[in-house]
Amino acid sequence: MLVKARSLGTQLIVSLGLLVSLFALAQGVSSYRLALIGVNALLDDRLSNVAGRVRDVYEAAIPRDSTGSGNAEDLVVLVWTGHRDTPTRTTDNAVVFDRDTPAGFSDQRANGEAFRVYTLVAYNEVIQIAQRMSVRERAAEKSAVRALLPMLVLIPAVWVTVFLCVRRAFGVLDRLGRRVQAIDSTHLVPLPAEGLPVELEPFVSSINRMIERLDASLQLEHDFIADAAHELRTPLTALKLQADNLRGDIAPGNRERFHALHRGIERTSALVSQLLQLARADAHLAVAAPSDVDVTALVTSVVAELLPIATQRRIDIGAEELMAAHVRATEADLRAVVKNLVGNALRYTPEGGAVDLRVQAGAGTVRVEVRDTGPGIPEDLLPRVFDRFFRVSQSVEGSGLGLAIVRAIVLGYGGTVALRNRTDGQSGLIAEVSLPSA
Ligand SMILES: Nc1ncnc2c1ncn2[C@@H]1O[C@H](COP(=O)(O)OP(=O)(O)OP(=O)(O)O)[C@@H](O)[C@H]1O
Ligand SMILES: [Mg+2]
Repeated sequence: MLVKARSLGTQLIVSLGLLVSLFALAQGVSSYRLALIGVNALLDDRLSNVAGRVRDVYEAAIPRDSTGSGNAEDLVVLVWTGHRDTPTRTTDNAVVFDRDTPAGFSDQRANGEAFRVYTLVAYNEVIQIAQRMSVRERAAEKSAVRALLPMLVLIPAVWVTVFLCVRRAFGVLDRLGRRVQAIDSTHLVPLPAEGLPVELEPFVSSINRMIERLDASLQLEHDFIADAAHELRTPLTALKLQADNLRGDIAPGNRERFHALHRGIERTSALVSQLLQLARADAHLAVAAPSDVDVTALVTSVVAELLPIATQRRIDIGAEELMAAHVRATEADLRAVVKNLVGNALRYTPEGGAVDLRVQAGAGTVRVEVRDTGPGIPEDLLPRVFDRFFRVSQSVEGSGLGLAIVRAIVLGYGGTVALRNRTDGQSGLIAEVSLPSA
């Protein structure tokens, strides 16, 4: 693997892009070299052609003595005849080679410059056609660079194409990923299998099989909770009824023991109800369809319901702020949440204390706050009070399930619940629930 990146798409883009660029580069280098060789061969061809023509036609036209045209691009022509040791004819006196340069092509120096020379030997004549190396190099370079131009366009085009292709291919994965992310116990729909690349089919079909199994096991769990509720409640209600019927027949000396029995039955009923409520909330099993619940109306009605307990314990219960707010939930769930929090505040606040409620709406959330003047909860135990059956002290009766139920319900609606001790100089606890507003 050429690159180490977390994204498969980036890995593919970079690897493919680099690979194709490497090929293009190799191709470019070879085109460049081929162009150089080609141009040199062409120029050599020209030199030998010119030599032939000089011998056959133009020799008389070459001056006996010349200082050259001053144009460095021009070919220099020298003609030697007989045994003279200076050229008989030349187009540039400043450029003189040895008379006996090897026949054919050779590289020579004259006047501090490098030349490519073609030497033609005929009878008693030597013809030398020379061209400046610098001129040849420039010409070769120019056409070699031109051969490179297509690569310069091609490489960026390849990168763009690779990027677009890979992104298109991975778009399918992205969309699939989002669908998988949306799956949870309340949203168990199989993934669509049509239109998918064959490579993804095994994944999708195994995810779909898993969804089916999950759905079946959730259904079993739901059924079990419903059955358990029925099976446990019926005998307990019958037991309570029997005990109530017995009340009149209890001998005065047994009254106290009978009351203990009766209270035990009631506590057991309450515990069973709470356990079922918790199981339901954990399984996100709503008893009714959710609707827009008026939070302020609900809080007011819970306060009215618990007012007798507050009055009995001489606790001043009231609302400081009640904004109009709605959440999408079942009324029973929301009532359970508020009732548990207000119930705790009334239960753990000593007589003569105060409990204040607040409903605030804003930025897509509704906040319900319950504030009391009780002892609060030791900081180190705060994270544990949401655990099932966890209780800070046993001095007041309770089962330790209330806050676990609150948390399960609130999380089921995508909200949060938190407890914190008051920091305004007064002892007490603040319970705060936030839910997405309707
Ligand atoms: N407002 C409060 N002030 C002080 N302590 C509290 C308050 N609310 C809860 N707690 C502590 O947290 C513990 C857990 O509360 P939770 O409501 O889960 O159970 P519980 O009230 O003991 O029993 P129940 O299941 O009947 O509600 C309580 O036992 C209590 O010690
Ligand atoms: Mg409680």
